[in-house]
Amino acid sequence: MNKNSVVIITGANSGMGKATAIELAKTGAHIVMVCRNQTRGEAALKEVREKTGNEQVTLMLCDLGSQESIRSFCATFKEKYQRLDVLINNAGVILPGRHETTDGFELQFGVNHLGHFLLTNLLLDLMTSSTPARIIVVSSGAHKIGKIHFDDINLTKNYTLWRAYAQSKLANILFTYELARRLEGTGITVNCLHPGAVATSMGINRESGFGTFITRLLKPFFQTPEKGAETIVFLATSSDVSEVSGKYFYQKEEIRSSNRSHDEKLAKNLWIKSEEWTGIN
Ligand SMILES: NC(=O)c1ccc[n+]([C@@H]2O[C@H](COP(=O)([O-])OP(=O)(O)OC[C@H]3O[C@@H](n4cnc5c(N)ncnc54)[C@H](OP(=O)(O)O)[C@@H]3O)[C@@H](O)[C@H]2O)c1
Repeated sequence: MNKNSVVIITGANSGMGKATAIELAKTGAHIVMVCRNQTRGEAALKEVREKTGNEQVTLMLCDLGSQESIRSFCATFKEKYQRLDVLINNAGVILPGRHETTDGFELQFGVNHLGHFLLTNLLLDLMTSSTPARIIVVSSGAHKIGKIHFDDINLTKNYTLWRAYAQSKLANILFTYELARRLEGTGITVNCLHPGAVATSMGINRESGFGTFITRLLKPFFQTPEKGAETIVFLATSSDVSEVSGKYFYQKEEIRSSNRSHDEKLAKNLWIKSEEWTGIN
């Protein structure tokens, strides 16, 4: 990574996204902090610039729960930037109670998987002309209890927080592996990771400030966002992984994800359905 590199980080105003922005801004690269809320985004932008002295860090707004917002963001980004070296799909949501995106998808599946599916696909042409380029997908160990519920993808029946979150995080890994197969030989690598248990704003309602019981109870025992971001920064910058693609990492080491996440037929089906749901085919 150098001063001409362009990096996108989604969910860059909080937790590991912000910690990653600070670390990568130290390289002097152009960091585009993609956030959904202007006030929270501007506060984080100010902090990242102050801590790193990098004035090439910028804020762009995008709500990953709105396909219109994603399309508009990508169009504006391509007007402003002629290249994209690193795309970090970090934003994520886990919230008690069933909610839906603007487009009517269950919130966690809609934001964590579908939002990033659409974003990535719309940016691939620019990345292809910027090779070597890297895509990093922040998943979770929670994928291990996940299933893709094709018969009721929006979990209108039997909704639970963990069913929804685990489905979205399994989808992150299936997406990573399928994309890696599709990008073989192009010069774009794509890898995913589990950051560990990290004390961030995950599970905390932005309006009310309330968090899940587990979040509040366990937060003091979790690692810092800076520590949690280490594997993201490693995958974005290390020459050790410049040729590695389609792998799952934890603590900067490649590890094996669940058997289900390696099901190629499942990954292909999810890809085809995701194309339909985002209208990109
Ligand atoms: N913390 C953990 O223990 C843990 C463990 C495993 C995996 N992860 C994964 O790590 C990633 C980062 O999460 P974190 O722990 O750093 O949590 P966080 O502090 O809550 O950060 C999440 C970020 O995602 C953004 N976001 C949420 N919904 C969005 C939307 N619709 N459009 C755009 N941005 C949106 C949030 O923006 P706002 O601030 O505006 O809401 C925030 O910037 C997530 O993918 C999460 O699943 C976390």
